[in-house]
Amino acid sequence: MTLSDTQTKKAVTMPDAQTVTSVRHWTDSLFSFRVTRPASLRFRSGEFVMIGLLKEDGRPLLRAYSIASPNWDDELEFYSIKVPDGPLTSRLQHIQPGDQVILRPKPVGTLVHDALLPGKRLYMFATGTGIAPFASLVRDPETFEKFEQVILTHTCRDVADLAYGRELVEGLRDDPLIGEMVAGKLIYYPTTTREESPRMGRITDHLRDGTLARELGLPQISVAEDRAMVCGSIGLNTDLKEILEGFGLTEGANSEPAEYVVEKAFVG
Ligand SMILES: Cc1cc2nc3c(=O)[nH]c(=O)nc-3n(C[C@H](O)[C@H](O)[C@H](O)COP(=O)(O)OP(=O)(O)OC[C@H]3O[C@@H](n4cnc5c(N)ncnc54)[C@H](O)[C@@H]3O)c2cc1C
Ligand SMILES: NC(=O)c1ccc[n+]([C@@H]2O[C@H](COP(=O)([O-])OP(=O)(O)OC[C@H]3O[C@@H](n4cnc5c(N)ncnc54)[C@H](OP(=O)(O)O)[C@@H]3O)[C@@H](O)[C@H]2O)c1
Repeated sequence: MTLSDTQTKKAVTMPDAQTVTSVRHWTDSLFSFRVTRPASLRFRSGEFVMIGLLKEDGRPLLRAYSIASPNWDDELEFYSIKVPDGPLTSRLQHIQPGDQVILRPKPVGTLVHDALLPGKRLYMFATGTGIAPFASLVRDPETFEKFEQVILTHTCRDVADLAYGRELVEGLRDDPLIGEMVAGKLIYYPTTTREESPRMGRITDHLRDGTLARELGLPQISVAEDRAMVCGSIGLNTDLKEILEGFGLTEGANSEPAEYVVEKAFVG
């Protein structure tokens, strides 16, 4: 195989280099990829790391990325936007198997079980690439040991933007490790806001007007039974915080677990 530009330039000097093992393009603006996992890397499902490439001047260009694979996986998976003219993703979108990426092995984040108090149901609210940390958490048996029901909501502009999450959920049902645990426990609730689809609208509206609870036959969110994790744009996160606090939930952190946690899917 011919080495790509990225590989020939970076193979020798790149620090914390990991090798790309597969790449899949979902739409013109979304792709996922897998890389080798450093032998020493331990992380909690839901955490993020800094990944990137070397710039022309030889310095690293790094961005935060949620690890989309569960902590038991031999490789690491990432799910990425392609921002036109984005410093990192305008280049990262061209990676191929065999190329190298920088991965700083210092996972952090608040979308972790440790930051939540025990509960009956866990709601995961994602928009866009905000589904990435939940792709890790729904493949982690601990999620289903801790909660009786897990509700994964994913809202995107267009139907094609839902494909990664839909395939993930379908794949879980046949998974030898977690398939049985997930059966009857994981509820998937996709919506679109711009392109016509069977279920449309912002998740915030579905929560405010009771559509989500009604469609799923679940009680309204309560502090006694429900926990939530949120990952989307700053606007989505702000609106959901207000809604969840209206239901009586308080925000948790690693140092002080509570009833809901929030992480930005991107800045700006
Ligand atoms: C905690 C955290 C976790 C993150 N995890 C992921 C992840 O798992 N997958 C991922 O694709 N990105 C993720 N991001 C965003 C990521 O860090 C970069 O912003 C993204 O890779 C684009 O990099 P860039 O250099 O091409 O453009 P940037 O200069 O970083 O971004 C340019 C603009 O593009 C838009 N943008 C950036 N990222 C996104 C996005 N993910 N979805 C929609 N619009 C976006 C914003 O308007 C931003 O101002 C995360 C960010 C944070 C803070
Ligand atoms: N995804 C694309 O097809 C696309 C195409 C071109 C450019 N971009 C650029 O990429 C960036 C992000 O796009 P994105 O679609 O990935 O992320 P996004 O703008 O955060 O939208 C993702 C989903 O979240 C919903 N949403 C946004 N704010 C919300 C809020 N406050 N409450 C409830 N729901 C909310 C959106 O609904 P609404 O549709 O109602 O906002 C959409 O369904 C933007 O800068 C955009 O210009 C994206």
